[in-house]
Parts: sequence; C-alpha cells; structure tokens
Amino acid sequence: MAIKPPDLEWLDGDVPRAAGFNDTYFSKAGGLEETRHVFLAGNGLPERFEGRTHFTIAEFGFGTGLNFLTTLAAVGGLARPPALTFLSFELYPMSAPQLERALSAFPELSKYAQTLVSAWAPAPGWNRLAFPGADLVVGIGDARELIADLGRQGAGESALTPVDAWYLDGFSPARNPELWDPDLLKKAADLTAGDGTLATYSAAGWVRRNLQAAGFTIEKTAGFAGKREMVIGRKTAPA
Ligand SMILES: C[S@@+](CC[C@H](N)C(=O)[O-])C[C@H]1O[C@@H](n2cnc3c(N)ncnc32)[C@H](O)[C@@H]1O
Repeated sequence: MAIKPPDLEWLDGDVPRAAGFNDTYFSKAGGLEETRHVFLAGNGLPERFEGRTHFTIAEFGFGTGLNFLTTLAAVGGLARPPALTFLSFELYPMSAPQLERALSAFPELSKYAQTLVSAWAPAPGWNRLAFPGADLVVGIGDARELIADLGRQGAGESALTPVDAWYLDGFSPARNPELWDPDLLKKAADLTAGDGTLATYSAAGWVRRNLQAAGFTIEKTAGFAGKREMVIGRKTAPA
C-alpha cells in the first residue's frame, strides 16, 4: 500500500478540510474544547483514569492527532496517571508538515505536538511511538481490515485490548460510511472491556442503530457549541 497524504484545503487559514471527503478534521468553533466535550467527557474522562494503572483508548480516524494530544495533556495533568495506550487507525495519514500546520492552531498543546510531528513517519501497518505517559499505536491502512489484527490469539497486537474507551471520529457518516460500518462497529464492540464506553459527535439515526446492533447501549446527550445532540454509550451487558 502506497501512502498518499490527503489533499487539504485550509479554512480560515488553519482548519484543515479533506478535499476527498469534503469535510473538516475539527470544528471551526474550537477543536480542542470540542474534543474535551465530546470524546473525553463523553467517555467519563479524565475522571475514569483515577485509580487505573493502565487504560486503553481506541479511535477511528487519527487525522491531525488532536484527540490524541488532548488526551495526552489530560493524562499529564494527573497526580497518578495510568499508563495510557492510545490505539488509532488512519487510511490517509497527513504528512509531518500538514500535521504541524494543523496543530499550530492549538498553542496549549505545542509541547506535545512538537514531539508528535518530529517522530511522525507513518508506514503501512502498525506504527508505535512512545511518549512520556503514553504509547501511541497507529494502524496505517483501512480500519476495516486492520481491526482484524487486534485481539487475535497470539497476534502481536493482542496485548492492546480490551479497549476501555472508544473515540468514534470518522468524517461525517454520510461522507465516510466506511468508519460507521456495522461490521467494523461489531468488531469494536467485541474488543471492548465489560465496562467500556464510546463517544461520538454524530447522532445520525443509522449510526445509532449500527451501534446498538454491534453491542453498545447508547444514549443521546448535549453536543458541543450549538450542536443539539451527540451520542455516548457503553458495552451492553450480556443477557
Ligand atoms: C474527522 S477525521 C479524524 C480527526 C482526528 N480524530 C483528529 O483528532 O484530528 C476522520 C479521519 O478518518 C480517516 N479515515 C477515513 N476513512 C478511513 C478508513 N476506512 N480507515 C481508517 N481511517 C479512515 C480520515 O482520513 C480522517 O483522517
């Protein structure tokens, strides 16, 4: 698989939009606060880090790394942080200069962003980067294919699961249905810890139905900055 960085347009100078999906990577109304609201608070974080020695977060769509870096900063602010594994998937990895430009919108994260940008050299398959406080594991390729490597008995990636919290952050479901696919979400549910959770900005009806069919119990809650709804969920208990 040859890696091709995405074709980007830059809205208002600093919000990247993928031409191929006609969608932005983060909100114009404050990407960092949106990540904290939707993905961290939506998964009960950072509170759920308390008392844990290890915590695994998995994400569909690494994009700019904003969600990862925001999570890293949250862990860095704790007195007794868990060892964090952050597992993500990306089919169209940005180049290091694209990442750098996108992340320059968040001076609060600059310390962490510099480390990511200088280490960023994505290759097809599994890429591991060690950060103080976190292991970043990014699968470069189609999430629908790579997810089969996880949890496989004897596979090198099996120690990464179960997943404690999912960040479901594909582009809008209408434009990127691949990341909201029933089979992918079922595999995600199967890799989730018994008390594991999910959060997503999307409240589309068919996404909610796919999540329920996959094995998550979901609810709608208030979205970020004027968005009426988002969705949170937890793994459905066995009957
Ligand atoms: C909304 S962006 C993610 C933003 C990201 N979480 C961040 O913090 O910047 C969605 C991402 O999903 C990626 N993507 C789309 N389809 C994919 C697929 N089938 N497998 C893996 N990644 C995919 C896109 O290239 C894009 O980077």
